[in-house]
Amino acid sequence: MAKRVVLAYSGGLDTSVAVRWMIEEWGVEVVCVLVNVGQDADSSESFDDIRARALAAGALDCVLVDARDEMADEFCASAIFANARYEGKYPLVSALSRPVIVRHLVDQARRFNATAVAHGCTGKGNDQVRFEVGTHALAPDLEVLAPARNWGLTRADSVDYAQKWNIPIQATKDKIYSIDENLWGRAVECGAMEDPWAAPPEEPMTLTRVRNTEPVELTISFVEGLPVAIDQVAMPLANLIKSLNDRAGATGFGRLDMVENRRVGIKSREVYECPAALAIIGAHSDLEDLVLEREVHHEKARLETRWAELVYDGMWFSPLKEALDAFMADTQRHVTGDVRILFQAPGMMRIVGRRSPKALYDHGLATYDAADTFQHADSEGYVKIYGLGLKTWAARQGAKNATPPAS
Ligand code: ARG
Repeated sequence: MAKRVVLAYSGGLDTSVAVRWMIEEWGVEVVCVLVNVGQDADSSESFDDIRARALAAGALDCVLVDARDEMADEFCASAIFANARYEGKYPLVSALSRPVIVRHLVDQARRFNATAVAHGCTGKGNDQVRFEVGTHALAPDLEVLAPARNWGLTRADSVDYAQKWNIPIQATKDKIYSIDENLWGRAVECGAMEDPWAAPPEEPMTLTRVRNTEPVELTISFVEGLPVAIDQVAMPLANLIKSLNDRAGATGFGRLDMVENRRVGIKSREVYECPAALAIIGAHSDLEDLVLEREVHHEKARLETRWAELVYDGMWFSPLKEALDAFMADTQRHVTGDVRILFQAPGMMRIVGRRSPKALYDHGLATYDAADTFQHADSEGYVKIYGLGLKTWAARQGAKNATPPAS
């Protein structure tokens, strides 16, 4: 009996060619799984068109899984708790969607009695790592196949291959950009952007094209770390993210242009469009400034870096990431309140206010006016003892640090 493989199918050229190529070269049966993680935003194709393509390419079946709420409520939510930004910038757009897809691949592999899963990634990127490490973390017995690492086809070869096998594709031989998209944003690569000095072209951008030059002010409400409403209108997280992508993105906010370190040792120039992700994380961490106790807050900042690295590196289903999630979740119990944000074209975002019933900000302690409740005299002994070690050290050194350099 032929080996059965469940393929993470996007409907694009590479994964369509992968179906036929695996059948021809490896003699396997292929089931396609298309996981909707929110990439449907501006798609001109229906699922029926995409399914027809998979079947034309030779797939036994093509299954559509709607994982938009799962992506939001589990994956984006954890990233919000952790204020996750890889290398301090990238909110893990593609890195967050891969474990969602992996989980459904494994699920469908069980359903179809497959012994392997497959993906369309090349050998140069992070996504292959996320697919393979993720699959093995959930299903150590499943094999992972990566046809695009074996076939040695150029894009033009793939187009010819699809034509030869009558696979109906929209792609042309000179597609310029590689775009990966989900609820949390878009990653845009290739073309002119491969020169890190060249400014990114507007052409492939969708979310952050300026459509509104008027200032936009809005309030995001959080309950225990999660954004639940915009301007007092409650909505599910997936809708809230979509709405912010639209409203903040219209002012041009949310574009990142950066050089990042891939897991596989390559530096790459990346352009991202992620207005909602950056706005939510910005607002969330600002609210944390107001409510988190200092030591928790400082430790959390250290662990956030680690969390983002783990997820970037494909370790979503790892015990360390799970343990860090437990820490993050515990810190969110008091992260309830509102954050006011002002967006102003082109691309500026400023937080202009925050409030919380759990605020640790105490006006009586902070004020310099007559309402001051702070006991100034208490500071005298405290500061003396705090600086005592340094004073003792300095007395032994003589006055050698006290002379300013000659100007
Ligand atoms: N460099 C980003 C990451 O590793 C984006 C990857 C985009 N993926 C893609 N298949 N185009 O998360």
